[in-house]
Amino acid sequence: MTTATDAAVTELAGLLGRARAGIAFTGAGISVESGIPHFRGKGGLWTKFDPYKVAHIDTFRQDPAQYWTYSLNHRRTDAEPNPAHRALVDLERRGHLRAVVTQNTDGLHQKAGSSQVVELHGTSHGVVCLDCEQRFPRAQIDRLNREHCPPSCPACGGAFLKPTVVLFGEALPTEALQEAQSLALAADVMLIVGSSLQVYPAAAIPRLALEHGAELGIVNAEATPFDGRASVVIYGKAGEVLPQVVSQIAAG
Ligand code: APR
Ligand code: ZN
Repeated sequence: MTTATDAAVTELAGLLGRARAGIAFTGAGISVESGIPHFRGKGGLWTKFDPYKVAHIDTFRQDPAQYWTYSLNHRRTDAEPNPAHRALVDLERRGHLRAVVTQNTDGLHQKAGSSQVVELHGTSHGVVCLDCEQRFPRAQIDRLNREHCPPSCPACGGAFLKPTVVLFGEALPTEALQEAQSLALAADVMLIVGSSLQVYPAAAIPRLALEHGAELGIVNAEATPFDGRASVVIYGKAGEVLPQVVSQIAAG
């Protein structure tokens, strides 16, 4: 387990440079340098708010106003990809990454140019009505939310408009989970970036890759439960470490 020393960056560059079926697995930490807070560990949202209260389907159904009020005051719509997202695009273009499996719902991997992104926890850019199941662009409902919080469904007037993200107590989208599982089974290298690897079933994806022979490279600000089984672990900021790894690969 190393910090972002040159030797560790060189080791990770070597691991990724050899990858022919590499995939990235990302969490909230990769978007922190884009201004989007992470959840666990130092300064995480779940050290300030109770996740059960603000991100569980049961409490959402009891009081959707709580979610939409938080969204009104905290939602970031101007976040841009940071050098870590762009480094993953570069690795993809060099043939070292086939896809990004992400737990994030911010859409920044797609915005950066990653061509295959599997969103295990859905996307915050959509909204679905729990009564009539109609879907809407998030921007449309954000506008309604600014006029009247919480917003009602434009189609049926229902009170339960939910962002198309997976809340605690909800199942992961089957298609995304199956796609992530098949990518993990075929992976020779998995680059894990910015995740505490504590939330299941998402964290079962790196375990599946490991059990089927993939080597793990981890870049995270803090220790994770997978560090002991990884080939390379670098503690540091993704936006600083990943560009260094890519320039080492580019230098050949
Ligand atoms: N660079 C790299 N790692 C960072 C950075 C950074 N700049 N900033 C923070 N981190 C690390 C934190 O130390 C933490 O270990 O990123 C990790 C983020 O972990 P979590 O906040 O637990 O996020 P994640 O693993 O994505 O959580 C999984 O839990 O709350 C649910 O649905 C939510 O998708 C989320 C899931
Ligand atoms: Zn409706």
